[in-house]
Amino acid sequence: MPKNGAPDYVVSRELMNIRIATNQDSGDIKRVYSSAFPKGESEVISKLAIDLLSENTTPQTISLIAEVDGSVVGHVALSPVVIENNENCQAYILAPLAVRSDYQKRRIGSTLIEYGMQQLSAMGINVVFVYGDPKYYGRFGFNADAARNYTTPYNLQYPFGWQAIVFKECAIEKAPVAITCVTSLCDLKLW
Ligand SMILES: CC(C)(COP(=O)(O)OP(=O)(O)OC[C@H]1O[C@@H](n2cnc3c(N)ncnc32)[C@H](O)[C@@H]1OP(=O)(O)O)[C@@H](O)C(=O)NCCC(=O)NCCS
Repeated sequence: MPKNGAPDYVVSRELMNIRIATNQDSGDIKRVYSSAFPKGESEVISKLAIDLLSENTTPQTISLIAEVDGSVVGHVALSPVVIENNENCQAYILAPLAVRSDYQKRRIGSTLIEYGMQQLSAMGINVVFVYGDPKYYGRFGFNADAARNYTTPYNLQYPFGWQAIVFKECAIEKAPVAITCVTSLCDLKLW
């Protein structure tokens, strides 16, 4: 066992409890982001994670936490995205995601993503966006080609990080189309 008592092996799905996060989990979620990101960045991103807990959207904004041995070690949020003039195309965005530093590289992030994608696919969602490192998200099927026709609410600092995964093709009449995110994501600093 390394320091802090975290296991030094992959944490299997059976040893991990994934559940819906509530406002009562805010403190634990903040601690996950403080440990996973450098200081200035962690403040902005943990604020996003906590603000998303209070988003009242249809369809719902989903916040998931991963617990190991009763401790919160990972978090991911999935919030709905509106695609301009294409109401039949149902979309979500995955943001943010973090795993506590002492629990990284044990498949907790992968399990949260896979679980979240299963939920969205079962809901009949067409497309899921993500803005992050293609080297990480590519392994789950996210890719830049699938996101190309969708214009983000703000100009991107790292355009190569804009990706999507398509569960069900959308017939978009005129590409590119603008997307609108929930209020918590309407912050230039996040893009
Ligand atoms: C990125 C993060 C969520 C991954 O969670 P995790 O539980 O450590 O990931 P997993 O154990 O499921 O997967 C680990 C694998 O992803 C790789 N990986 C992690 N971050 C990566 C990145 N930014 N780019 C490429 N690969 C990455 C690891 O090297 C490891 O590779 P391996 O399986 O070949 O050894 C976690 O490391 C984290 O919180 N990082 C800081 C916050 C962050 O960057 N969040 C946004 C993600 S772009």
